[in-house]
Amino acid sequence: MIAIVLGTRPEIIKMSPIIRACEARGVDYFILHTGQHYSYEMDRIFFEELRLPAARYRLDVGSGPHGEQTGKMLAGIEAVLLKESPDYVVALGDPNSALAGALAAAKLHIPVCHVEAGRRSYNRMMPEEINRVIIDQIADRLCTPTEVTRGNLLKEGIDERKIILTGDPIVSAVRENLAVAQETSVILEEMHLTPKGYLLVTAHRAENVDSKERLESILTALRALSAGLSLPVVFPLHPRTEKKIREFGLSLDGIQSTSPLGYFDFLYLEANARLVLTDSGCIQEEACILGVPCVTLRDDTERPETLAIGCNVLAGTDPDRIINASQRMLSLEAGWKNPFGDENSGTCIVKLLCTS
Ligand code: UD1
Ligand code: UDP
Repeated sequence: MIAIVLGTRPEIIKMSPIIRACEARGVDYFILHTGQHYSYEMDRIFFEELRLPAARYRLDVGSGPHGEQTGKMLAGIEAVLLKESPDYVVALGDPNSALAGALAAAKLHIPVCHVEAGRRSYNRMMPEEINRVIIDQIADRLCTPTEVTRGNLLKEGIDERKIILTGDPIVSAVRENLAVAQETSVILEEMHLTPKGYLLVTAHRAENVDSKERLESILTALRALSAGLSLPVVFPLHPRTEKKIREFGLSLDGIQSTSPLGYFDFLYLEANARLVLTDSGCIQEEACILGVPCVTLRDDTERPETLAIGCNVLAGTDPDRIINASQRMLSLEAGWKNPFGDENSGTCIVKLLCTS
């Protein structure tokens, strides 16, 4: 039996191909939802749109400081694992939910499979970087997206026999759901946008939005870009960002902000954007897969593959840097090849778990 631990928006989206592969193979599995994300538009909308089965366990841990949030998850996950005794626990990426799932399992000597293993920003100020390093050290199977991430694991002395190059399940999530989005989404009409006639922005990293200066700097750059290019800037606000904009008393004038969107609407917006500006991990990859140039609002990335092929640049949060990088990327032709593998990653991961 396989226990799939998840708790945040990107985990739900990227686990979906793995869940589908479990269903297709008739594998005995269950979903354990930590409740790290709980608002309808950060959680349930994805279960509905992606037609995922309900979680067998929901811990309702909610928001809180890192120690408290991760500690509550650990206690809750441990109790479930003791009851169910799964053969494998699958954790994906780098949120606190993934760390708690992997740590609870490892302490109970239940094998851990880490999907998206080996990603490194080499910036330990990022809470997610600490989570990645720890999960990779305690995992028994490391499903790594690219040769770069495999190399990172080998440099940290991880046994080569534990590492499997599976590609990233985001590739199938994008391809499968874009087809549905193209049929169903009316977001462009609703927001009065035209294909390739707007910029799409997301920002939610604690390092950016918990700092008034950095967040204000991003908003200043977006306003200037929109005015300079005479293009709307569309910004679906992560709840953390929305809360911080209110708390800091910042203005969203000149920016077309919305609530967080469902996956179909967001993917459709992303595929039709002229340019994506983001500090999200997953969206750097999605933009690359969709052939849309990306400006990353950070000074480092755990997706250097996108920098190497030229579809993404780092711009930090300084307005001049963001504007210059955006102008450069706007004239880019999308001729690159997606480096994150094919649609078979979910199937490959489940097959591996069933045969080892
Ligand atoms: C978390 C992950 C981050 C991931 C992101 C995906 C960690 C350390 N961070 O960041 O790696 O990129 O999810 O989106 O695990 N909130 C709501 N409703 C929700 C969830 C959150 O209103 O459903 C608000 C709360 O005010 C909360 C804040 O957002 O305090 C931050 O939530 P939290 O889960 O702590 O971190 P994220 O910023 O979402
Ligand atoms: N996403 C979404 N609606 C939104 C913003 C993002 O469905 O309003 C999707 C996006 O397509 C991607 C994932 O959420 O698949 C990214 O999540 P996020 O940026 O929160 O997390 P990260 O990847 O940075 O961990």
